[in-house]
This record gives sequence, C-alpha cells and structure tokens, in this order.
Amino acid sequence: MNPFSYGTIVKEPYFFDREEECRRIIDTLSGGNNLVLFAPRRFGKTSLVFRAIEELEKKGFICIYFDFMPVYSRESFIEAYSKAIISKQGNFQKAVKALAKFVKGISPKLVFNQAGNPEFSINFIENKINEKTLGEILDLPENLASAGKRFIVVLDEFQEINKLNGENFEKLFRSKIQHHKNVNYLFLGSRTHLLNDMFNNRGRAFYNAAMLMQIDSLPQKETIDFLIDRFASSGIILEKSLALFLIEQAGNIPYYIQLLAAEVWQYVVNSTQKSDKELISLCAQKIVDLKSDYYYELYDKQSVYQKKLLKALVISGENIFSSSYTKQFRLTAASTTQKALAGLIEAGIVEKTEGRYFISDPFFKRFIIYYA
Ligand SMILES: Nc1ncnc2c1ncn2[C@@H]1O[C@H](COP(=O)(O)OP(=O)(O)OP(=O)(O)O)[C@@H](O)[C@H]1O
Ligand SMILES: [Mg+2]
Repeated sequence: MNPFSYGTIVKEPYFFDREEECRRIIDTLSGGNNLVLFAPRRFGKTSLVFRAIEELEKKGFICIYFDFMPVYSRESFIEAYSKAIISKQGNFQKAVKALAKFVKGISPKLVFNQAGNPEFSINFIENKINEKTLGEILDLPENLASAGKRFIVVLDEFQEINKLNGENFEKLFRSKIQHHKNVNYLFLGSRTHLLNDMFNNRGRAFYNAAMLMQIDSLPQKETIDFLIDRFASSGIILEKSLALFLIEQAGNIPYYIQLLAAEVWQYVVNSTQKSDKELISLCAQKIVDLKSDYYYELYDKQSVYQKKLLKALVISGENIFSSSYTKQFRLTAASTTQKALAGLIEAGIVEKTEGRYFISDPFFKRFIIYYA
C-alpha cells in the first residue's frame, strides 16, 4: 500500500497537524457562531472539516455535511439537502414524517431498497418550486433541532449556490439562517475569490454572516516529519533535505505534496535506486507528462497577454501591479494586467494569498517553465 493518499478526504495516518485550526473550528461552532473557512484549492479544507465533525459529534452535536458541487437545480438541492438532513436523524420514519410536516410543498415517500433498507424519494406537489418551499427546507434543520440537540450544518463548495438563481437564493438563505437558534453553519469552498466576495462584500447577503478563518499550508517541520515517517513505514529512508526539496517541488501545497510523494514512493519501492533530488525531479516531470495534454489545452486557451503574465508569475507573484514588475516582464498597463489576471483567477488557474499571486497547480507551473 502506498503510504501517501491524495485526491480524497484524508484521515490518519494520511492526515497530520491542523490541531489548532481544528480546535478553533470546534470552539467557534460549539460556541454558537457561524464560520467561513478560506484557503486556496487543495490546502486540505474538507479533510480538516471532517476531522472537526468527528470531534463535534463526540460532543453530541448532530453534524450534517452537504456538498453544493453536484447540485444543479433547486429541485436537486431540495432533494439532496433533505436527504443529508434526514439521514442524520436517529428514527428514519419519524424524520420523514417531520419532513412532510415542515415542508409543505413536497411529499416524501418512504421506499425500501433491494437490501431492505429504508430510503426516501421526493415528489414535488407543484411543478415549480416556490420561495415558500425553499424557505421551509432551509428552516428544516432549525425545526428538527432543539436546545438539547444542536445541529451543525457544513456547507462545502458553498460558492456553487450561485448556480441556483444567484443572489435571490442567497438572500433567502441568509434571511432564514439568521433566525436559527439551535443550528450553526460552517461554510467553505474551493473557489476562494467567489467565497471571499460572498462574505466580504458589503453588498452581498452573507456579508458579516460568519466569523472568518483562513488556513495556510501545513507547517514545514511537521510536513518534513510526516514525509520521513511515512517513507520509513515501508523501510525507505528519506533525508530531511530531500523531504524539503519534495515540498518545494510540490509548491508547498498539501495535495501536491502527497501526490509527488506517492509517485516517488512508487518509483523507489520498485527499484534499487535511492531517492535523491534527481529522482524527485524526474517524478515531478512524470506527473507533468501524464497531464501534458490537458496542460497544453489549458495554456493554449489563454490570451497572448495571459500567457505572458503566467510566465511572469512563474518567476514572481509579488507587487505585480508595480511599474518595476511591469517593466521587468514587459507587460503593458496595470489595468490590462488586472483584466488578464481576473480571467486567470476566474478559471482557477491563479490564486492569491496575502497579496501574493501564484499558479494554483505547481505542476502546471512546471509545465509553463519547461514547455511554454
Ligand atoms: N492535514 C493533512 N495532512 C496530510 N495531507 C493533507 C492534509 N490535508 C489535506 N491533505 C492532502 O490534500 C488533499 C486534498 O485535501 P482536501 O480535499 O481536504 O482539500 P480541499 O482544500 O478541500 O481541496 P479542494 O480545494 O479541491 O476542495 C488530500 O487528499 C491530502 O492528500
Ligand atoms: Mg474540498
């Protein structure tokens, strides 16, 4: 078994650190506040939240995890959201009855699947979903919760709420949850700039709706120890300097660190070759090669100016609107850079942390260095 795991929610032994962040999440939510979690893509938001959920459930909270990504319509939202809520109630039949009682515009039907387990499906009483039904479904957690049975609702990929007729739905959501006494909400998502706008823009419904929390990449020392320990678990020695080199090659992003480490492990375990910098670079290159068709297409799609900007960002992402940056990379006006950058951010290619812009996929960055 590969001692590294990427692309899914990770738990121990593939998960490390984040104790402080986890505590903060637990304290904020159990203290009766809502929270929004910010971090660039693939920094480990969802895994961290699952860890916090485990702890919150131990404390007696009922935690409902809901992912907005697969939602494509109001109907699909109602169906999936009610399923997520109902599945966390102890008595299934009672919960389905409560659903029918609290949400008038739908009629839930209890059916038994092939394994004999109860499931439910929903029929919509009217053809069109009206505000009232939507409002009732949003109030469902509050109606099922009580002071002695508090709920935490985790809304992942929350920016996708925009798909559901944008700001109207957003306003309704906010207006409902602000009255919830026994439910607290945790919002997160992988499109940071959209989420950021939702919670930090005065004109938006969720402005000031939650405490803000930013998570960084994993701390260096702990990451080095993790890499060394995981390699050691299958008898492979990884020197500290090499662990550091690996972290750098993976852009210091948790997902890419585990991806590259998995590739290196695979290589080393099947050969007599010792791991060294060359081998780590070779593995990084292999990852780029495997994705090169996609990267070519992605790069090709960008405008000439955006390509120029990407090449500049490979070298530096600091002070990119300054005249010295403009001069160094032969860009034109800051306004042109701003526009090109907005497109790259919108596409999820570039992200920003603490005033610094960076290419979110370190292997795409590598592709630009070697092939573009
Ligand atoms: N605490 C951690 N310890 C070790 N590896 C981690 C940790 N958190 C995340 N990872 C690595 O990063 C990968 C992505 O984690 P996760 O899906 O939780 O991130 P995310 O921020 O929710 O990503 P996305 O932006 O795509 O939604 C994991 O599969 C794992 O390889
Ligand atoms: Mg996630």
